[in-house]
Amino acid sequence: MSSPPLGKVSGVRVLVIGTGGREHALIEALSRDPRVTELHAAPGNPGTAASATNHEVDASSGESVAALAAELGADLVVIGPEVPLVLGVADAVRARGIAVFGPSAEAAKIEGSKAFAKDVMEAAGVRTARSEIVDSPAIIDAALDRFGPTWVIKDDGLAAGKGVVVTADRAAARAHAADLIESGRPALFESFLDGPEVSLFCLVDGETVVPLLPAQDHKRVGDGDTGPNTGGMGAYSPLPWLAEGVVDEIVDTVVRPVAREMVRRGVPFSGLLYAGLAIGAEGPAVVEFNCRFGDPETQAVLGLLESPLAEALHATATGTLADLPPLQWRDGAAITVVLAAENYPATPRKGDVITGADGPGIYHAGTALDGEGRLVSAGGRVLNVVGVGDDLAAARADAYAKLERIKLPGSHFRKDIGHQAL
Ligand code: GLY
Repeated sequence: MSSPPLGKVSGVRVLVIGTGGREHALIEALSRDPRVTELHAAPGNPGTAASATNHEVDASSGESVAALAAELGADLVVIGPEVPLVLGVADAVRARGIAVFGPSAEAAKIEGSKAFAKDVMEAAGVRTARSEIVDSPAIIDAALDRFGPTWVIKDDGLAAGKGVVVTADRAAARAHAADLIESGRPALFESFLDGPEVSLFCLVDGETVVPLLPAQDHKRVGDGDTGPNTGGMGAYSPLPWLAEGVVDEIVDTVVRPVAREMVRRGVPFSGLLYAGLAIGAEGPAVVEFNCRFGDPETQAVLGLLESPLAEALHATATGTLADLPPLQWRDGAAITVVLAAENYPATPRKGDVITGADGPGIYHAGTALDGEGRLVSAGGRVLNVVGVGDDLAAARADAYAKLERIKLPGSHFRKDIGHQAL
């Protein structure tokens, strides 16, 4: 990539691909970077429209995204969600000579193909769960015998967390596996990894790895980690209970070995490598890798970032991450609380009017404007509310105070995000 280091230029045009709260938070953080003079979102949402220009685009079409980036004269394209990455949208943008933050389709297989991820981890000597693909009802019972007594059963495709069942109830595990197989989707059985979970996001450019602050998300819908799994109901960062040195340990024993192995295979990773880990008695073990920023942890993590984000993403995109000055973070803590629509995660009700959703730290995830220009719910996870404070208690107070001002009929949110960490 021949473009100059972003630190030395101004008047930078950035295009962010995606529609969710993560993309809204990325846009808000990019807008704080003084180099950025033009921000575009595609497709974006009513929230991103406040600081970016939204454009209609088929985000899963590399040709369409690349054409839009060229038309806008974008200096940097940031691809938020995994689906376009797995489909090769970053490759199409790169082919036009435009810097893009996000891995190639081949490297995105670290999220898109469980078999590829396991193979890379095995070659890199990284601890992870044992797993098996179960694709026939006839072999479910034998697989249930080999796993458990806590069963972890996942949709083997990209299901954004929603295809995951973790249960001690054998009948429920069996039913989920049978449902997946019946709908033509193999079930992935995994051994249960004990210990608290950590999401560690790392900027990765070949073998160069720069970790962001660690975070934890809350995947179950209900307080006290009850109810079904969701795409994520909230998150907080950093993790006061995580022993000093564990982030370095994760980088040294998990992320860097995987990044090196990908370089060795000729599929170097460029973008955000997200390690989801369980911190057990024997140390960190990988639950999964993702090829993009996590949602809703990103909204909290970026709430603490003081360094210019466009510079960091551009350095990653152009192979100059090793020259990036160390990232600066504000002291304190941040949390994201997800405001979900009635009946999420089953069949969320849509079209309800939302009020009070203005102000800093309120990111749109599933919203739309109705025919009368009113803001309405348009998805299961509607808003992400981020609180920041000098400690976790202050961050929680900030987020929940903001939530009190937002009205959405039938909505619900978890009251205990970050609470256990206190
Ligand atoms: N935080 C879960 C995910 O982004 O997949």
